[in-house]
Amino acid sequence: MRVVSGIQPTGNLHLGNYLGAIVNWVKMQDEGECLFFLADLHAISMPIDPAELSAGTREMTAALIASGIDPDKALLFNQARVPAHAELQWLLNGTARMGWLNRMTQFKDKSGKNREGASIALFAYPVLQAADVLLYNATHVPVGEDQKQHLELARDIAEKFNTDTGTETFVLPEPYIGETAARIMSLRDGSAKMSKSDPSDMSRINLSDDADAIAKKIRKARTDPEPLPETMDGLAERPEARNLVAIYAALAETSQQAVLDEFAGKGFGDFKPALADLTVSVLAPVNERFVALKNDTSALDAILTRGAEKAAAVGAPILADAYRALGLLSGR
Ligand code: TYM
Repeated sequence: MRVVSGIQPTGNLHLGNYLGAIVNWVKMQDEGECLFFLADLHAISMPIDPAELSAGTREMTAALIASGIDPDKALLFNQARVPAHAELQWLLNGTARMGWLNRMTQFKDKSGKNREGASIALFAYPVLQAADVLLYNATHVPVGEDQKQHLELARDIAEKFNTDTGTETFVLPEPYIGETAARIMSLRDGSAKMSKSDPSDMSRINLSDDADAIAKKIRKARTDPEPLPETMDGLAERPEARNLVAIYAALAETSQQAVLDEFAGKGFGDFKPALADLTVSVLAPVNERFVALKNDTSALDAILTRGAEKAAAVGAPILADAYRALGLLSGR
């Protein structure tokens, strides 16, 4: 099992990232060889201030370590320090089809009405993402539900590359999507995912929020006046309630039904304070470690440099195979 996944170092690590992906990364580092990276090359697909990007890359590194990623168990690095990601993307640009990329919902969402003004990087973003995982022959890619389409594309690209070149250069990666927290929704709108790009900070819980901020955001989270039902069916038409139950279950590492067994018949006046206490009890120690680490620039840089050197060594033979498969005389 080789596990590869990434996160964009833009904005704060929020509860959606944490429960949807990072918790699984932490578990998987004890089960297989893991490579986790800051997707700083992806971050330049949207306008971003350079100083903010470099500071954000270090901060996200600190946030991942604070969340439980152990750089002695997993390789932790930023894409920009491993040029093979960008190189392999170029090679895969020959395989990826315009029509495939045109179907990507993220490009449609992020470019909005201004497709003509979107960067080429935003359009080709999923090809870089394919390169990220194919470079290391990843078998498992732990992500939230929103990344599923990109990973299906990575499989399509790998398959077409292998067929076109008559080789078995790439392994087809499997997305690994947890059940409970695959899609954590905004606290303000049960039909939108929790996201760092939501203009309202009240929509998400950040790893950097203190206990008061967490309690306030949960208290003000949109809900309905009904008590919690006995079974999951009773949540079918209640997206906000369902989201809070899912968050509770994921934080408590239990099933959503078990949460309903405990709270059925109770209203949000009872459930929200319990959820706030639970959230604080899980995030407070993470936040404490984050604060202690985030300004230790030299330690964070040393971790990233070491991770990048090792990752480059893992990827080198696979990149060389890709050059060779295409008939490119690269001297690798
Ligand atoms: P990013 O930075 O948006 O998110 C990082 C991880 O968090 C998950 N996630 C969520 N899960 C559940 N509920 C939510 N509301 C939620 N919001 C975010 C994402 O699914 C992701 O797993 N393109 C990727 C980064 C990337 C990558 C890769 C991932 C680049 N290369 C290769 C896997 C493999 C992204 O922007 O994730």
